[in-house]
Amino acid sequence: MLIPPPLSLYVHLPWCVRKCPYCDFNSHEARGPLPFDAYVDALLADLDQDLPLAWGRTVHSVFFGGGTPSLFPADAIDRFLQGASARLRFAPGLEITLETNPGTAEHGRFGDYRRAGVNRISFGIQSFDDGCLQRLGRIHDSAQAEAAVKLAQDAGLDNLNLDLMYALPGQTLAMAEADVERALALAPAHVSHYQLTLEPNTVFAARPPRDIPDDDLAWDMQERCQALLADAGHVQYEVSAYARPDRRCAHNLNYWRFGDYLGIGAGAHGKLTLGGEQAILRRWKVKHPAAWLAAAGTPAAIGGDERIAPEQRPFEFMLNALRLVDGFALADFEARCGLPASTIAAPLAQAQARGWLRQDNGSIVPTPLGRRFGNDVIGLFLAG
Ligand SMILES: C[S@@+](CC[C@H](N)C(=O)[O-])C[C@H]1O[C@@H](n2cnc3c(N)ncnc32)[C@H](O)[C@@H]1O
Ligand code: SF4
Repeated sequence: MLIPPPLSLYVHLPWCVRKCPYCDFNSHEARGPLPFDAYVDALLADLDQDLPLAWGRTVHSVFFGGGTPSLFPADAIDRFLQGASARLRFAPGLEITLETNPGTAEHGRFGDYRRAGVNRISFGIQSFDDGCLQRLGRIHDSAQAEAAVKLAQDAGLDNLNLDLMYALPGQTLAMAEADVERALALAPAHVSHYQLTLEPNTVFAARPPRDIPDDDLAWDMQERCQALLADAGHVQYEVSAYARPDRRCAHNLNYWRFGDYLGIGAGAHGKLTLGGEQAILRRWKVKHPAAWLAAAGTPAAIGGDERIAPEQRPFEFMLNALRLVDGFALADFEARCGLPASTIAAPLAQAQARGWLRQDNGSIVPTPLGRRFGNDVIGLFLAG
């Protein structure tokens, strides 16, 4: 029996000042003034169209992702949040995150975001080394990054995430450690520490930088940085996510627990459990901002709808849940996939025999070895 899990709301804001050469997100260089008002109108029309998928449900987190959401003025964010909370019930005190590029931080802006309801800021820092930032094509230097974080703190925002990437072109182990130390000096609540990947259809994939650290060095960087973060009280709870106690990202945790989410805006993806129909629906929106803007609120803005067949659900569930250091409860697997735990008994037994997973009081927890070979573990759950 499928039981609808908590619901989140993802809002995609697709523009950036400049496209970074490593980035394959649905992000587009802004050419000329951006249509903020028209985009907010379109977001609300998009939400109206999706509302029947979520009637009567409460939203537990909102995430403005990009692109660079901090290009949007606070009054646009405010108007969207007012419109959304008039259409959907917002849980009291829900987490509302806005992604910010430090190169777009302006004095006064963070206070206005906060007054609009934003209570968590996620900064795309990437590195504090000015040479690395240049090679990554970033629009800011390290001093601007530090100043942006302080502006947010001065505006009373204390739930801050800093995104760092490691295994950067030309980066040594000492440089990767120095980045984490400089991040920790800003006392963030949360750090996301991503290994740089070469994504298809990016400038880096077409012309890979020659001095990217090899896998062994990248592994050492991850281990050393994890230890530095742990010493500072940041507990790893997911492959790339570290947080102080009680500061884990509610929005991302909901994804990793195979929760539900509405996805609105250009190219946004949603996943919704339809209790009556006993189905799990994936819906995605048309990717290009101009095309989505022109069609928002009409069926033409929907890029596609797909139901996740029962036999595909275990793999999709594991793709998310096995990223979590604490793993998952078997009862949640049953409720969120609508399948008995016996469906996965065979791959679970195999993974346990290989020392990749262990059972703990009704939960399945990846071992350190299982975390290292995550893709192999997840592969065991592919529909036969
Ligand atoms: C949508 S961006 C965040 C906010 C904003 N756009 C910025 O870059 O400042 C999400 C994060 O994904 C990470 N990321 C993007 N491309 C990546 C790649 N190829 N490999 C690893 N991490 C990547 C970066 O740390 C980035 O901050
Ligand atoms: S600013 Fe962020 S979203 Fe935009 S291109 Fe760079 S990494 Fe991608």
